[in-house]
Amino acid sequence: MLEAALREGFHLPYSCRNGACGTCKGRIVSGDVRHEPYEAKALSETEKAAGLALFCRAVPEGPVVVLAREIGVAKDIVIKTVPCRVARMEKLAPDVMRLFLKLPQNERLLYLAGQYIDILLRDGRRRGFSIANAPSADEFLELHIRHVPGGVFSGHVFNAMQERALLRFEGPLGTFFLRDDTDKPVILMAAGTGFAPIKAIVEQALTAESERPLHLYWGGRTRADLYLHDLALEWAARHPRIRYTPVLSRPAAEDAWTGRTGHVQEAIAADWPDLSGFEVYGSGPPRMIEAAKGVLARKGLPEDAFYYDAFEPAQDPVAPP
Ligand code: FES
Repeated sequence: MLEAALREGFHLPYSCRNGACGTCKGRIVSGDVRHEPYEAKALSETEKAAGLALFCRAVPEGPVVVLAREIGVAKDIVIKTVPCRVARMEKLAPDVMRLFLKLPQNERLLYLAGQYIDILLRDGRRRGFSIANAPSADEFLELHIRHVPGGVFSGHVFNAMQERALLRFEGPLGTFFLRDDTDKPVILMAAGTGFAPIKAIVEQALTAESERPLHLYWGGRTRADLYLHDLALEWAARHPRIRYTPVLSRPAAEDAWTGRTGHVQEAIAADWPDLSGFEVYGSGPPRMIEAAKGVLARKGLPEDAFYYDAFEPAQDPVAPP
């Protein structure tokens, strides 16, 4: 149903598109749908019994009427399939590669900071990566690729891909972007390469006149996971509206870490006993997003003030693109 809605120009919220995150949840008002497999945490039995469905996993079995939220600002964004060239590769950490993609001449991608693209592999599979730079500086598209053991695309990037390689992608996708219809202070919560869309959001926000406070929390296991730590420090040093709190869950001895430790969502909860007047934007693995939902709700964060991008890197070994 999500696919059909997007194809017909309705911009419903979604993130994972595989039944893991719950972003696409909406109500079936009338008609029947078949539920393709999904993760129980994304849709509870009670919700299902009450007529809710995950539109990314619901297949209509006839005419269906649904009630869904639509994202107005995404309306003018055209999703397209574009060839591109890898203009530059830069290792940001032992397991994180930054790719700069160059589109064909005269071709630009209209997107919102925080959205992602799907790299299209030759065997028909796709791999989603957030765009890590702001649309205001879009000569290249920047991606942060984590090397996943057994991951076919990330393995290819780390072991075989050369600059000037050709790729194809579809995008922009997703509804993870900063809502600007409010002045509420913003907490940005990233784990690992979940920093990529957050980086785009911060860079875009810095081009606007707004004084809206942005508090960035970036979590990793060790210091190496904060692969653009200096950039975040620089933002905070240069812009009074930005604060930056790095958090490590398992700092290595050689990190000599004197900063915050633990999980990033716990650090936010410890710093902000009342989140009722905030918006939180989270990007990272589904288990972090899931944990954050509960922790932040207990601090008063309204459910509709938590926006997130939940992703899990694919690990299936198949032929390279
Ligand atoms: Fe449908 Fe994530 S559960 S988009």
